[in-house]
Amino acid sequence: NLFDEKPIRRQEIAANVTNFMNPKGHINPFTQLSLKLASRGFTITFLVFEHIHQEITQARNTTRPATSPDPGDIFEGVRKGSEPLDIRYRVVSDGLPLEFDRTGRLEEHLDWYLNGSVYDKLEEAVGEIVMGSKPRPNVLVVDTFYPWASKIAKMFELYHASFWTEPALVFNLYYHVHLLREHAHFDCPDLRKDPINYIPGVKSIEPKDLMSYLQEKNTSTNMHKLIFTSFEDVRFADCVLCNTVQDLESDTVLILKKLMPFYPIGPIFRTKLSLNIVHTSLWCESSCTNWLDQQPDGSVLYVSFGSLANFTQDDLMEFASGLKLSNVSFLWVLRPRTVLHEHGELLPEGFEEEVNGRGVVVPWTDQIAILSHRAIAGFLTHCGWNSVLESIWNQIPMLCFPVFGDQPTNRKLIVDDWRIGTNLCDGTSMKRKDIASKIQSFMSQKSRVEFCKNIQELRKLLENTLDIDGSSVKNIDVFIKNSEMYWS
Ligand code: UDX
Repeated sequence: NLFDEKPIRRQEIAANVTNFMNPKGHINPFTQLSLKLASRGFTITFLVFEHIHQEITQARNTTRPATSPDPGDIFEGVRKGSEPLDIRYRVVSDGLPLEFDRTGRLEEHLDWYLNGSVYDKLEEAVGEIVMGSKPRPNVLVVDTFYPWASKIAKMFELYHASFWTEPALVFNLYYHVHLLREHAHFDCPDLRKDPINYIPGVKSIEPKDLMSYLQEKNTSTNMHKLIFTSFEDVRFADCVLCNTVQDLESDTVLILKKLMPFYPIGPIFRTKLSLNIVHTSLWCESSCTNWLDQQPDGSVLYVSFGSLANFTQDDLMEFASGLKLSNVSFLWVLRPRTVLHEHGELLPEGFEEEVNGRGVVVPWTDQIAILSHRAIAGFLTHCGWNSVLESIWNQIPMLCFPVFGDQPTNRKLIVDDWRIGTNLCDGTSMKRKDIASKIQSFMSQKSRVEFCKNIQELRKLLENTLDIDGSSVKNIDVFIKNSEMYWS
């Protein structure tokens, strides 16, 4: 087994640059990719923005015992056998003051991000890593949402791997946005409403299932600029690594492979490596296992909207009331600041008492562990891509509540294509009674039988891809092989 080979000390592979907005859905896959590459013998430099580093540190300081490691230490206890992995942690400023409210003032943050100031900082940081490290790094792995990655890679003669942490379908749609424009399905005063059937590798997709940004009327926001420039830049990448599974999205992957070196390497959170990992989550987690252990098998609905989705206070209250009315047992991850500009308590006092021990609300938890608990029966999810893959791995059907970005498109895959879940809501406000009745119907045994059968099949695909001759393992090998030409 390749994975059991003693790691060979190889050239440093990456300044591993993660996303600037701090979504766990981007940073977690970077952490996991770093572990995979380091276990193959590469030295990794993991580069994060200072504001993300600060957020992690603050959260740790308030909720963890004083003895817990700094974020910079997270990779320190990771070994493969007795061999420590060489992952270095570096922090870079984006040039804005740390106290700048990056979530609440996203457009302003993006303005700063796009005007080149962040580029200068990154160029400087990557330059220091390249010049100051021994051996000299040869590969730059960057989140696809970095619009100037190819420029930096070229400047320092690095192999440029663009890491796409969402489904191949979403990559493909952004990549072909010019076709949507030409056919008046995007950025046009008189938008067409009929199905889209001219994107290579996509049989047919309804306009309502496009990513939220491609459904907006105003297409000149900074978010749009970021998407367009990133997808121009990615055309210059040496390869694209994608956290998907070839057989899960075979038609789309086939087309993308014809257009560029496109390597599906997911599910990135799984590996057949026997790593001794002390702690690889950058975030503080509440343990819910005591409560879950007391619940019957397959009785609990797990609820989480990931790390970025926001709601109005009214919608959140309506949702909480619907959950309460449903009489279903639940474990709800409710992030602080789920309501923008709201720093206080999000739920009315006594909410948990009112549900009589039937539900638990926590700010953050170890989702992968929760989804594998025998008590969990379903996942009410915002359809973030990592959540989708983790749910498939644990064979947990999904109740979909997409909010923004790729989530409406991911919903289509879950509900319409793979039939492993159903809709709660399509982004429009819902009333508590409808929420309650949809939750009840989803949790009834009858509705879940077909989903469970289908999800079992998908789990097999995910397992197979991680075998020694599985597509994800082979794709990582090809990526490593192709990047060898940059080894000095
Ligand atoms: C973001 C976007 O919102 C999403 O649409 C896109 O597909 C990826 O980037 P995020 O909102 O963070 O992602 O959602 P998701 O992709 O589901 O990732 C969340 C990650 O956080 C998962 O790996 C999940 O295991 C983890 N998580 C979530 C926890 O560890 N604990 C929790 O309590 C909740």
